[in-house]
This record gives sequence, C-alpha cells and structure tokens, in this order.
Amino acid sequence: MPAISVPRVLGALFLASYYPLQSVAVPPQAADPCAKIAGQTFVLPADALACYKAFPFNETLRQNVMSNVARVFDFFTFEDFYLNSPPPFQESTVNIRAALAKINTTKFATDYDFNKALYDFTTQLNDGHTRYFPSCYNAFQNILPAPVVSLEENGVQNLFIAPDSVEFISQLGTNYTGFFDSIKFDWKRLAGAKVLQIEGMNAYDYVDLIARTVSGNYLDHGVRVNSVFTSYRISASDFSQRLGDLAGPLDVTRTSLNFKLITTNSTKVENVKIPYLANFLGNPFTDKASFWANNCAANDETNGVDLRQQSTFIKPARKQPKADIIDGLKAQAVGLPAPFRPTVPAQPGSDDAIKSFILPGNKTGVLFVGTFSPLDFDQFQADTVAAVNSFKAAGVTQLLIDLHGNGGGFVCLGQFLHQFLAGSQIGYPGFQSTQRANPLAQKIVAAHVAMGDQDLGTFYSPDNWAFFNDTIFPNTFNYNNPAAPFVVNGRSDPTSQRFHDTCTESFSQPIPEAPPFDLKKVAIVSNGNCASTCAMFSTLMFERHQTKTAIFGGKPGEQVEYKGMAGNQVLEWADLDTEIKSVGLKDDPLAPPDVLVDVNFRHNWRTAWSFLDENRPIAYVSELPQFRFPYTKDTYNNPQNLWTFAESKLFA
Ligand SMILES: *[C@@H]1O[C@H](CO)[C@@H](O)[C@H](O)[C@H]1NC(C)=O
Ligand SMILES: *[C@@H]1O[C@H](CO)[C@@H](O)[C@H](O)[C@H]1NC(C)=O
Ligand SMILES: *[C@@H]1O[C@H](CO)[C@@H](O)[C@H](O)[C@H]1NC(C)=O
Ligand SMILES: *[C@@H]1O[C@H](CO)[C@@H](O)[C@H](O)[C@H]1NC(C)=O
Ligand SMILES: *[C@@H]1O[C@H](CO)[C@@H](O)[C@H](O)[C@H]1NC(C)=O
Ligand SMILES: *[C@@H]1O[C@H](CO)[C@@H](O)[C@H](O)[C@H]1NC(C)=O
Repeated sequence: MPAISVPRVLGALFLASYYPLQSVAVPPQAADPCAKIAGQTFVLPADALACYKAFPFNETLRQNVMSNVARVFDFFTFEDFYLNSPPPFQESTVNIRAALAKINTTKFATDYDFNKALYDFTTQLNDGHTRYFPSCYNAFQNILPAPVVSLEENGVQNLFIAPDSVEFISQLGTNYTGFFDSIKFDWKRLAGAKVLQIEGMNAYDYVDLIARTVSGNYLDHGVRVNSVFTSYRISASDFSQRLGDLAGPLDVTRTSLNFKLITTNSTKVENVKIPYLANFLGNPFTDKASFWANNCAANDETNGVDLRQQSTFIKPARKQPKADIIDGLKAQAVGLPAPFRPTVPAQPGSDDAIKSFILPGNKTGVLFVGTFSPLDFDQFQADTVAAVNSFKAAGVTQLLIDLHGNGGGFVCLGQFLHQFLAGSQIGYPGFQSTQRANPLAQKIVAAHVAMGDQDLGTFYSPDNWAFFNDTIFPNTFNYNNPAAPFVVNGRSDPTSQRFHDTCTESFSQPIPEAPPFDLKKVAIVSNGNCASTCAMFSTLMFERHQTKTAIFGGKPGEQVEYKGMAGNQVLEWADLDTEIKSVGLKDDPLAPPDVLVDVNFRHNWRTAWSFLDENRPIAYVSELPQFRFPYTKDTYNNPQNLWTFAESKLFA
C-alpha cells in the first residue's frame, strides 16, 4: 500500500500534552485524553486520535472479534472470488483467510490499532455489504473545509475545490468555522481554486489513492473515484451535498493536507496547508471510562436474539430483505445549498425518498430516487404512482431517473420500481438468487424444515423464497440440501438451490400491464454511487430493457461502471446471529460468538445472478454506461441543470 504522508499536528508545541507518555508521571487530566475533548462537537483530529489510542491492546477482545469475523466470513457469498477478482475489478484481489491470519498475529500497540487494521482490510474489499464497523472508532468524521470535485472547463478537466464551498461548508455552523477564524485560516478564498497537487502528488493520483484506501463500498475503482468527490444526493428525504471521502473521511489520522493550487481570479501557484477539524458524532461521554461505556462496549443491540425467547413473539409479517451500504457509520449530512436546488415545483409524492419534477417544456419527467430505504415502505410505492400519474396528466413522454448517491435499501422496492416501469407483462421482476451452502447454513435451513408449520419466519425460512414458477417454497422444502455445485477460482464453493424473491407479495400498488412510458424513452443518470438495491434496479433496467444510462464525473481517461456495489441481500451481524440463535444453533462450534464490543461485521449474504449470464453474479459483470459526461461548475451541485443537460443529450 502506498504510504500516506505522516500527518503533521497543528502546532507541534501541543504535541507532548496530547500524547502523554505512559511511563512518566503526568497530571491526572493529561492522562485522560478523552476527558480533554468531552462535550465538544468539533475537536482537533490529533485530540480525537489520542482519545481513541487511550485503550490498550487487549488479546481477549482480539480473539473474540477475530473468531466472530472468521466465522461470519463463511457466509460471505464472494469470498472465493477475491482470490483472483476478474477485470476490471482486479484491485480487490486478496486472500481473505491469509489477511485475517496476519491481523490475528500482528502485534498492535492499542485496541484502536487492531480495529483500524480490521476496518481498513474490510473497507478495501470494496464491498459495501461486507464491512467491519467498530462504533468506538467511527465516532468522529474528519472534515476539511475544501471538498474537491473534477470539473470540465473549456473542454479540459481539472480538480477543483468545490466552487460552492462557502455556501456548503458554512452550514456546519460557527462551531466549525469559528475554529478556522481562531487560527486565522481563510478557507473561503479557496472556493473554486484549481488544484494541481495534493501531498506532493499529482491531484488525480491523490484522488486515486483515496479511492484505493479510504472509500471502499464499490468494486469498481472508477465509481470510488466519484465517492472521493463532493456530490449532490438525497439524505433523510432532503436535498443534500455529500462532502466526499477526501473532505469527509471517518479516519482522523490526517490532521491537514498540503495543496498546491491556484485560487480563482489569480494566476499565482500557491502552497496551502489546509487543516482538518473532526466532528464528534458518537454518544456523549465525560472521560475515558464513559467514552468506552457509551461508544465501545457491546449493548443490547450489538448481538442478535433468540426470537423463541421473546415473550411477545408473534410471527412477523413477511420480513423485508435489505441491500444497502453504510456510508459512514456516523456521518454529517449537510444540506444542498438553497441556490442550487431545483426551481421547478416538486410534483405530488415528493415528501419521502423520491423527488419528482417536470422539466420546463413538459416533455420530461424526473424521478430522483434518493434511496430505496424510505421512511415508509408503502409510501414509496404510492409516491411512484403519484409521480407517474402527474407526469401522464402533464403530457410527459420522457422519463429521466436520477440515482445519484443512492445507497440502496429494500430489495423489494427496487423490484417494485422495475416492475412498475416495465409492466406486469415482463413476469418475475428480479434476479435468480442463492445463499452459500456452508455446513452451518445447511443446518439452519434443516432446522427450519424440521419446524415445519411452527416455523418462525426468519430470512433462512423456506417460505421467504419461491421456485422459478413463483410458487412460494413450502416450509418443509430444504432448498439448501442438496447444495448446487459451484466452482470459482479453482475452489469448490457450493450454493443453495436457486430461487426467486417473493417481492410481489409486498407490492401495495397495482402494477400496470404495459409500461407507463415507452421504455426507449426512459433513461438513467447517476455518478455510479448506486449501491445494492440501486445497482440491482439499474442492472435490471439495463439487462432486460437496454435502458440508456449516463454516468457523470470520474477521472478523465478512466472508465466508470454504471453500477456500484451489486451484491444482493445483506445481513448485519445481529441479523445473522438472530438467524442462528432462533433455531437453537448458537452452541454449534461453527457459530460465530457474541461480540464483547459494539462492532458490526455485516456481509453480503445472497448472490444476484446476471440475467444475461446466469453463471455470473451481477457484481462481477462489467457493464459500462452508454453515455459518460464530465461535471461542470453548473451541474456538479445543481440537479436541475444536470437534468436539463441530460434531457438534451439522452432524448435527442
Ligand atoms: C456549539 O458547541 C457547543 C458545545 O461545544 C454546543 O453547546 C452548541 O450547541 C453548539 N452550537 C451549535 C450551533 O451547534
Ligand atoms: C480485556 O477485555 C476483557 C473483556 O472485556 C476484560 O475482561 C479484561 O479485563 C481485559 N483485559 C485487560 C488487561 O484489560
Ligand atoms: C488466532 O490465533 C489463535 C492462536 O493464537 C487461534 O487460536 C485462532 O484460531 C486464530 N483465529 C483466527 C481467526 O485465525
Ligand atoms: C472573482 O472575480 C469575480 C469578478 O470580479 C468576483 O465576482 C468573484 O467574487 C471573485 N471570486 C473570488 C473567489 O474572489
Ligand atoms: C407546461 O405545463 C404547465 C402546467 O400545465 C403550463 O402552465 C405550461 O404552459 C406548459 N408549458 C409548455 C411549454 O407547454
Ligand atoms: C412450481 O414448480 C415446483 C417445482 O418445480 C412444482 O413443484 C410446482 O408444482 C409448480 N407450481 C405450479 C403452480 O406450477
């Protein structure tokens, strides 16, 4: 891994008091670096790191976490693909078991160092479904008042500090900006500056470094390059601007970045050292002990439960599978500055995850689907219908779907949107799917089968899934024994028998028989940061209807896939644990132990097999967009400008 230059601490003068030496007598308050920053929203990254490093390495905790992680990996659908990731995804090639063995034997100074090694390893698998999140060490987000983006100007692309940084960053409030005032650092003059170098590297090479080492989530490098940049999106049902992984990483080891840049209205090349300031987003604490108790120790939700022991247990309605990424366990959502929000009025059904608009001219309707994790599952479906009805009433004939920054969500809402747009005539709206047939998974399914009519209704239950004729599996059908043979990279990696999702059971709106819009007049725009359910939705539209897709951004001369992370259903650690405990298998030697600390090792639990090649998971099928455009200063943060541009290019 290329070395990242050693962070310089702001004012070396303070260094000694931030890193008390354990071996010498120090005043009590200096001995507790967490107490020093307690109650503050924004702190120096070096101070945040000192608090993180206050907890000594503990072999008991390492063994507990490592045995949990190793046994959860048995369920990870893509483990053997990593031995030799196919092009263009070679960057993610790694021997997972060998890497775990290394982390299991490395000598670490602190608990943080161990957790950071495991966090970085899973992040660099570049699978947003398969990541290790220690709450303890994801409590801060480091924020640079200089988000970057690649923009084209006069036919040439360069890296810039976002021209809207003043409007954007000011929203963090005076607790953030006041720090820069106090050290007399004028970040506002940097808005729109052209960036030549970062940390002594060519600016785009540095972006590539962040994409390789920090971003994670997406197998495709080009998609990760877009996560390094600031971008517009919908967050919590409102227009938002993401900081990007250079300006808003969770990692607090960098204290500043050295930029070589030219400010707007100038021709002078300058070197500017821009400081980070870390934003505390964890649970309140007053000192080291309470930081640990409130942010690090396992709590009631860390591990799963045995549903049979819940006194109030009633078999739930159909469980809704989720496929989503966690874009920063704790991350600051900052609004898209008002001047850049759409000026055309929002159409009916725009209060939740979907925002819909009709572009001037009344030809094109825009469905901005910000997430498949709406506040309300049924409302998402009702909103889709409301938007399409208002488009129809206005005489709209073209549909533009914006998937910028859509991190996925309910698998069945992706299938709903696909089926609603394609019509019921297409039949099954999803992909063939499987789980891994490891010995413990087989025991779990066998336990469900043994329960028969008394089954609990968890994700391994046969009646969650269906035969290819869409008849739901009887709850006595053991779909994971016999297993189906599968070989990848020379390893035998059997799967369950193939099945269909049963999403149509939870469609609460009638599906039209024919598509509401000519499918040739439907197009998608995105930055490739379209994960999980979003990737499955786009792949269905592309593979089944050849829907036109335009990807914006990326680096000049480097390709970007249209889909990001295209696994299928994800299980959080607590979900998998509930599956195991609820069928009485927690004592099995293959069962991962409960974790003693508040960590979540989530994993991709199901595969979606490509419609075009049913021997390949869609995650590993390279599919490039038919259109690729750079952002300009008028489109990178302005959805309506981008849609108007896309309308002229995609429906010409
Ligand atoms: C600024 O930080 C203080 C605590 O450090 C907090 O009480 C206050 O609410 C913050 N102000 C804003 C506007 O967030
Ligand atoms: C290590 O962690 C375990 C589990 O929390 C705890 O019981 C033990 O006291 C810790 N060891 C040390 C040396 O702190
Ligand atoms: C880690 O090493 C210990 C021996 O030190 C061994 O018992 C354990 O199985 C190893 N765990 C993993 C996940 O490799
Ligand atoms: C650059 O010059 C233009 C025109 O004089 C002015 O409107 C703008 O505010 C200047 N930008 C900066 C960052 O100084
Ligand atoms: C578009 O529709 C609106 C609302 O019905 C109408 O006021 C406007 O004149 C229409 N514009 C065009 C170009 O047809
Ligand atoms: C659907 O397929 C299964 C398995 O092949 C079969 O047992 C079942 O009878 C079929 N159902 C219908 C309604 O055709």
